[in-house]
Amino acid sequence: MFLAYPVRPSLGRQFVLPFMVLTHAAAAVFRTLVFVFILILAGMVAPFAAAQTIKLSVDMSKTGAKIDSNIFGQFAEHLGHGVYEGIWVGPDSTIPNTRGIRNDVVTALKAIHVPNVRWPGGCFADEYHWRNGIGSPRAVTLNPNWGGVIEPNSFGTHEFMDFLDQIGAQAYLSVNVGTGTPREAAEWLEYLTTAQPTTLAKERAANGQSDSYKIGFLGIGNESWDCGGNMTPDYYLSQLKIYSRFVRNFNPAQQDKQRMLKIAVGPGGGEPRWTEWTEVIMKAYQHRSWSWDIDGLSMHSYTTGPWPPACSSTNFGETEYSQFLKLTLAMDDLISKHSAIMDKYDPEKKVALVVDEWGAWYAPLPDSNPGFLIQQNSLRDAILAALNLNIFARHADRVRMANIAQMINVLQAMILTDKEKMLLTPTYYVFKLYAPFQDSTFVPIAVDPGTYVHGNTTLPRVDAIAAKDASGNLRLAITNLDPNRPVDVEVILAGITAKSASGETLTAPKVDSINSFGTPNTVVPKAISPKVQGGKLTLKLEPKSVTVVAVEQ
Ligand code: AHR
Repeated sequence: MFLAYPVRPSLGRQFVLPFMVLTHAAAAVFRTLVFVFILILAGMVAPFAAAQTIKLSVDMSKTGAKIDSNIFGQFAEHLGHGVYEGIWVGPDSTIPNTRGIRNDVVTALKAIHVPNVRWPGGCFADEYHWRNGIGSPRAVTLNPNWGGVIEPNSFGTHEFMDFLDQIGAQAYLSVNVGTGTPREAAEWLEYLTTAQPTTLAKERAANGQSDSYKIGFLGIGNESWDCGGNMTPDYYLSQLKIYSRFVRNFNPAQQDKQRMLKIAVGPGGGEPRWTEWTEVIMKAYQHRSWSWDIDGLSMHSYTTGPWPPACSSTNFGETEYSQFLKLTLAMDDLISKHSAIMDKYDPEKKVALVVDEWGAWYAPLPDSNPGFLIQQNSLRDAILAALNLNIFARHADRVRMANIAQMINVLQAMILTDKEKMLLTPTYYVFKLYAPFQDSTFVPIAVDPGTYVHGNTTLPRVDAIAAKDASGNLRLAITNLDPNRPVDVEVILAGITAKSASGETLTAPKVDSINSFGTPNTVVPKAISPKVQGGKLTLKLEPKSVTVVAVEQ
């Protein structure tokens, strides 16, 4: 219609004919009005684009697994500015800090209720020697994985535990299997956790901590099929058994219910070498003896496109937007594939699938150190994060922990810092919107999601999850993937006498809108007013948006 107007003057003439008496100027104004009207009809002005109604139904009496708070876990590796500058500025910094840890970052992380932080790596973990990071003076070493830069070791065990204490999160430690020894890892755990007056406990006390630390999770190696030592599954399995046997948590408070959970290295994709890996570990788990055990199998899966990552995190269009969302939805198949193998050997689902590295991995920002993995974070990343969290929630019976990579200044970060400045990314706001889902109970949704098509890419138009929170209220998260069309949503509610609803939505003018240090509030959530009446919830979703609604009974 729009294209037809300039090349088909006859169309204009048909409108003008009844108004032959108008002056030339008035006719021009009229033609302009007609043109604008045609543009609106053609959907050129997005907010007026036709909204389709999508119907969902939710029955609150039919609940599923618990959506474990730990799926909202974070990852902080000694990589680029993830730890140094991102968390640690040192006690003498002019940047406001508490014992060297940035106050602005702590305040921001507390607001999203970070359940656990994985540390010190990543690939870094398999070259980390914990003794370099305690006491004084600290050994100065290298970080060969990430830019070959100096590792000052000023952020070590006590600083990490202090940071966790400040933000209220649990420790997920990755122990060094690649270049360390079982003895080194066992001594680290004794140093951290024993309440008995051993030499290591006294050293811990001399370094400022007399009480035992609590360690929630222990990762035994990282990507041992690759940067963690290029091991075969059988070789890794024998290492796993040794570390699982000897790396003990002695904290008296963690001998029963708050037991430290041990997480084995798992797959990094869906190819045969990784299905074999899952097979080998899980088959051994089925036949385990009293002397070793695991509680989780890790899985890593990034949304990257070509490798090495070449796609830009900024200045892209709808094609790159839709393609990355398509790529990220493959997480669902990958989880299903490995869950099916796990089901064969662990039908009771005792071993969790722990997606402890996930997120978008783009090309490093121009002029940045390529070893620092610095990228921007756009509205696309917010939508990508919501889609992944929805997938984890749908697999909540098996996926009980996940860690986005990474928390600050690296890959798909929550927070970016530049000296004293800090900004919250679109991904941060998704984690904030989703905080009420932590430890809620999954409720299935019936929906025909419709489709959003761009070029050769077809995606669901909406993606939604529902959950029952601790007060019995309904929590609903709905993403409108379509960047051009709003959606009218009608939710038929059963099993709840809904009295009121409130919500927030996250969107922005463009798919590649970002928060920058100059304009930090381009992509921020805003309040919406969903309606509840006669057992039905209605709301409108803006194009390319993530919306979270609370329905109170
Ligand atoms: O998150 C960056 C790196 O990606 C991690 O160090 C490694 O485990 C993975 O390959």
